[in-house]
Amino acid sequence: MKRPVAAALTAFGLALSLPATGHAAQPSENDVEEARALAKEFMMSLKGELQAAIKEGGPINAIDVCRTAAPGIAGEISSKSGWAVGRTALKVRNPRNAPDVRERAVLMDFLARAEAGEDLMKMESATVIAENGRRYLHYMKAIPTGGVCLTCHGGELEPKLQQAILQTYPADAATGFEAGELRGAFTFVKPLE
Ligand code: HEC
Repeated sequence: MKRPVAAALTAFGLALSLPATGHAAQPSENDVEEARALAKEFMMSLKGELQAAIKEGGPINAIDVCRTAAPGIAGEISSKSGWAVGRTALKVRNPRNAPDVRERAVLMDFLARAEAGEDLMKMESATVIAENGRRYLHYMKAIPTGGVCLTCHGGELEPKLQQAILQTYPADAATGFEAGELRGAFTFVKPLE
């Protein structure tokens, strides 16, 4: 949607400089809906693969699913949609998933919103950010901790499983979660025309 003031200024041939934030930087509802649908697809695929792997070979076998299937699914969604896709959290298992400053701020905001009673299932954030002369839409969708997640992210891990996790992730900080708590977020970034 064009701002009437901006349109009037350009009509008079005046130089136009809009602030980086403000009304003109609002994300479009279409883009947000697209990211929302992709986040849902990511969650469903990952949960499906995790549950199947646990059923087939137990949770130690399924460690590899979270390790390799998650980036795999992210890559697939990314190449078909043009969004850069990832996962992050305040407490991470893989240090490569650690949030940047902006993502950390959004995750802190999610925590506060959850504490204030907002439903994690629908929690999201969408912001347009200017970087190097281009505008990007940054979308994040909260990931709640579900029952199946507790096997590997809960308070008490089965000792052999814990050992296997620590072998690959010596700095693991992603345990001690309870069902219904914020586990992390999916991240989606797309350049805007
Ligand atoms: C079989 C064990 C296992 C189960 C079950 C599991 N995870 Fe994970 N999770 C992992 C491993 C291993 C990683 C590290 C993946 C990597 O290297 O990127 C991880 C990483 C993550 C991350 C990325 C941030 C980080 O900590 O590195 C999120 C978010 C996450 N898991 C959420 C979940 C959710 C939500 C569920 C339940 C739907 C779940 N996990 C179930 C093992 C598991």
